[in-house]
Amino acid sequence: MAVREILEFEHPVLREKARKVPKVDSSIVRLLDDLAETMYAAPGAGLAANQIGVALRVCVVKGDENQHWGLVNPVLVKGEGSQVGYEGCLSFPGWVGEVERYETVVVKGLNRRGKEIRVKSSGFTARAFQHEIDHLDGILFTDRLTDLSTLRRAEEFEAETESEVHREAIEA
Ligand code: NI
Repeated sequence: MAVREILEFEHPVLREKARKVPKVDSSIVRLLDDLAETMYAAPGAGLAANQIGVALRVCVVKGDENQHWGLVNPVLVKGEGSQVGYEGCLSFPGWVGEVERYETVVVKGLNRRGKEIRVKSSGFTARAFQHEIDHLDGILFTDRLTDLSTLRRAEEFEAETESEVHREAIEA
């Protein structure tokens, strides 16, 4: 496992639609491990493979506590409800903005053993899944702002919301 460099938004690979993985082999398992290690080191709530320069449909998303999901070829199969909240991105350091997402999602994909799994999540984790699947389609959170005026410096946002625990912005 290795902590990899996270590319920033100017990099063209972040605007590419990542390719589907034909087979979960040892190189994909290594990629999942590197993504997890890089996400925890950042720290972040999720990370997509193109953020470390690999244009394949692979991502990791942090779950509750110290668990995470690693998914190959993730697909959003169901989205319900809505949540409006602040979001940041490890490829867009120092900035957050308001994005509307589904409150609850079901995502399917292959796990590290190549078996299809379905993950149902809501709130923070559901937001991170939607953010990562967007990355794999070349979409950044700045493309989905409820309004451009909500884009602000992360430190400014944190100072404003210090007492409001629920308004923590994800970084993924
Ligand atoms: Ni991101």
